[in-house]
Amino acid sequence: MHFRAEHTAARAPVPSKGTEDVLPARTFENLARRVTEHTGIRLPVSKKQMVEGRLRKHAHALGMALTGYCDWLLAGDAPEAEFQRVVDAITTNKTDFYREPDHFEHLAGYAVPQLLKHQRPLLKVWSAACSTGAEAYTIAMVLAERAGAHRFRFAILGTDICTTVLAQAERAIYDADVATAIPGPQHRYLLRSRKADDVRIVPELRRLVRFAHLNLMDGRYPVDRDVDVIFLRNVLIYFDKPTQTAVLRKLLRHLHPGGFLYLGHSESMIGTELGLKEVGPAVFRWK
Ligand SMILES: C[S@@+](CC[C@H](N)C(=O)[O-])C[C@H]1O[C@@H](n2cnc3c(N)ncnc32)[C@H](O)[C@@H]1O
Repeated sequence: MHFRAEHTAARAPVPSKGTEDVLPARTFENLARRVTEHTGIRLPVSKKQMVEGRLRKHAHALGMALTGYCDWLLAGDAPEAEFQRVVDAITTNKTDFYREPDHFEHLAGYAVPQLLKHQRPLLKVWSAACSTGAEAYTIAMVLAERAGAHRFRFAILGTDICTTVLAQAERAIYDADVATAIPGPQHRYLLRSRKADDVRIVPELRRLVRFAHLNLMDGRYPVDRDVDVIFLRNVLIYFDKPTQTAVLRKLLRHLHPGGFLYLGHSESMIGTELGLKEVGPAVFRWK
């Protein structure tokens, strides 16, 4: 029988205010390597302070100094869930409703009419690296607007490696401020809290969107192979070139012929380099 390391880890005391609690260069390198192997996210030395800041708070909450916490993790003694907490702390989850809005115009005005020509009974859309769900619910709003008139059904899958954002995506509750990016007419898809400081996506849309934990570094993705539209925006930038290519190739195995791939605007080169046909700014069609 194994004893869990949490009971045996030597816990360095939390340093008092003013005591330096920074990682030795070697510890940071080892941690960065481990994070990159697992998530693909590069952590050059320029990110050291950011990583320390994000992990320090968590280490202190556990009653550990940052260095002791990282040594414990790197020794391989920490429970698996603890490494997920590091991933949660290190990922950058910046997102927004209607982020890079021309993509949603393209989806409604070009991609959907094209896809409907092929009479697909159910349009499948995957928001890979969905963060808090803002992207997936934006897609849901855009498709819901078209679905009535054009009589089609759709289903959306949102996946991410970070469990905290997935929990928010499932709750579908956002600060009312965040909702200012949503065009007026689409506010009918929002419920307001009594104090109007929060909004929640209406159940009719929530029902059409499902969320799951998925690491793009995994060898295979447990996702259907006939997805019509994939959004993979603003995540490849965190990976190195071979990882970007490998992830994109794996993802394309899930795109139905004639399907559309949306990358972040700053990532369009990655699609071009793979020989994909660009049919809009950072939008590609899979033949
Ligand atoms: C900057 S957000 C982009 C969110 C959204 N796609 C957008 O453009 O607004 C990047 C997301 O990628 C996720 N991510 C990073 N590495 C990942 C990996 N290996 N597998 C799955 N998701 C990952 C992060 O957790 C984060 O939520």
